[in-house]
Amino acid sequence: MIKTLLYPFKRFAWFKRLNAKVTYELLAKHIPAQDWHFMNYGYDPNANETPLVLDEVPMQRYPLQMYHYLAAKTNLANQTILEVGSGRGGGARHLASFYKPSSYTGMDLAHHAVDLANQLHNVPNLKFIQGSAEKIPLADSSIDVVINVESCHAYGSVDEFLKEVKRVLKPGGHFLMVDFRYAVDMPTLKNQLANCGLTMLEEENITPNVIKAIEQEDDKKKERIQRLIPTKWQKLFSEFAGVVGSKFYNNLKDETRYYYRYVMVKNS
Ligand SMILES: C[S@@+](CC[C@H](N)C(=O)[O-])C[C@H]1O[C@@H](n2cnc3c(N)ncnc32)[C@H](O)[C@@H]1O
Repeated sequence: MIKTLLYPFKRFAWFKRLNAKVTYELLAKHIPAQDWHFMNYGYDPNANETPLVLDEVPMQRYPLQMYHYLAAKTNLANQTILEVGSGRGGGARHLASFYKPSSYTGMDLAHHAVDLANQLHNVPNLKFIQGSAEKIPLADSSIDVVINVESCHAYGSVDEFLKEVKRVLKPGGHFLMVDFRYAVDMPTLKNQLANCGLTMLEEENITPNVIKAIEQEDDKKKERIQRLIPTKWQKLFSEFAGVVGSKFYNNLKDETRYYYRYVMVKNS
């Protein structure tokens, strides 16, 4: 009912900004679970990608892999990294520890998510700050790699975001992004990326990898939802979390939504 009432507003930039802010502030404030570190749908790697061996098997292996294999597209060691839309910070923590950048800044619109991430993740080269993707609070040409995981679908203006990415990147710097769109909105995203002033190096449809991840993680995800989410919110949250059978999962399966991975560079 609420969803139907809100549907007509979804195309307005102001509504998208408000929706993202309210949703992610509430999630971080009301579900501060210490072992819930990721909010993406997960990634099952291709056979030709190097298997990830970890000392500890993480609670959310597939969402962690979304970060790991995206970051594997460029060199992070000794680089200055900005992640836009870092959420609860699990991806930032993994990349800052595994790939050893000189500094990693996770930035998110939601104050509560930033506070939670700073509290949960204690890695020397890592910090979390509050800020908007459409007005990044960092200097021009100060960043080697910008990372963006399943976040820009929520922005008021993707064009403004891409302008900001280009501004903060050093010449030769990389932009790594994964996100989903409805099939009908894919041409708009393609146009935005083609006209943002960065050069596309790789563009990959990873929908099958995401579907597989959702399927493989489903039992654990459902168990977590039962444990962490109050009963009256579990149905709504299962949709948000994209369990098998949810609208999101079905859309990926019937190809009315796609999930893509992009690697771009700012020319020197
Ligand atoms: C689906 S979550 C993904 C979080 C994280 N990347 C992950 O994979 O776990 C989307 C995140 O984008 C953030 N976000 C939405 N709009 C934003 C904006 N305009 N600027 C910065 N962050 C934003 C949200 O607060 C949320 O934490």
